Amino acid sequence: MPTVVSGIRSTGNLHLGNYFGAVKNFIEMQHHHDTYFFIADLHSLTTHPVPQHLYGNVKQVLAEYLACGIDPEKATVFIQSDVPEVSELYLLMNMNAYLGELERTTSFKDKARQQPDNVNAGLLTYPVLMAADIIIHKANLVPVGKDQEQNLEMSRTFARRFNRMYNVELFPIPRPYVFEGQDMVKIPGLDGSGKMGKSEGNAISLADAPSVIRKKVMKAVTDSGPTEPNQQKPEVIQNLFTLLDVVSTPDVVAHFDLEYNQCSIRYGDLKKQLAEDIVKFTDPIRLRIEALLADDVYLSKVAKLGAEKARASASKTLQEVREVIGVKKFY
Ligand code: TRP
Repeated sequence: MPTVVSGIRSTGNLHLGNYFGAVKNFIEMQHHHDTYFFIADLHSLTTHPVPQHLYGNVKQVLAEYLACGIDPEKATVFIQSDVPEVSELYLLMNMNAYLGELERTTSFKDKARQQPDNVNAGLLTYPVLMAADIIIHKANLVPVGKDQEQNLEMSRTFARRFNRMYNVELFPIPRPYVFEGQDMVKIPGLDGSGKMGKSEGNAISLADAPSVIRKKVMKAVTDSGPTEPNQQKPEVIQNLFTLLDVVSTPDVVAHFDLEYNQCSIRYGDLKKQLAEDIVKFTDPIRLRIEALLADDVYLSKVAKLGAEKARASASKTLQEVREVIGVKKFY
């Protein structure tokens, strides 16, 4: 069974785009793979978050992924900082990561531009920590978005380099599992833009209250309506249909499609239906998020179980690494 590792940014508030773009695939994967999903809290230190915010975010992310259906009995769900073996492997891997290649990384250059007063070494070695996350569980597959492909390529380089340097086959070379095509539904924004995103300010969060969702959907951008039968839908309208496609039943989609094609559609009706169907989809998740956030005992049980499983796997690999490079115990 292939091993899958994926890190989750420790910023909360998953939105519909995250759900249909990635989380849904994680939920599917946990049934067929040996999956490790962790919250990358150490990575987020590169931006110097306020301690209370960091802790609150990690908790929120944990609750949200569990609420979506990540099953801690099936997948290994853990918090990166609970597995100190990762930090040690990161230190060891840093010895074989070179300044030039790290400086050339796109994500480093972007971050250095975004936070010119805080170009810390953690930012530079971000891909090394990411490689440690992955190879410590001897992962074969890593689900990543397009923006992480280069970082994963560096993990492959570091794994290969280690194997070659010590003439071993300790680390499998992790392959990217890119969510694309039928696996990946790109959820559009409600403002007529191409993509739903937190930073775009057009997102519907899974934790949004029904009243908030209704308001956001009713404000969605439309046009003045079709003027000819069966005309092609412009992007703003196609966006609404794409959303309808993921949350509504096929007969609802077919109904509005027909009305569009007959030029009898009333966008207000479509939006009302869309809002209700989004609420129907998100509300059980929202309620589970709230229940989980109120249940510290359960969350700590999940984190502890995950940490134990992850540490068992990580310490085994780390021991092998230490042996290979000659860091051996004298006692
Ligand atoms: N860098 C990833 C992101 O920003 C998060 C991450 C950290 C990760 N470690 C990882 C992803 C290991 C996959 C595997 O989204």
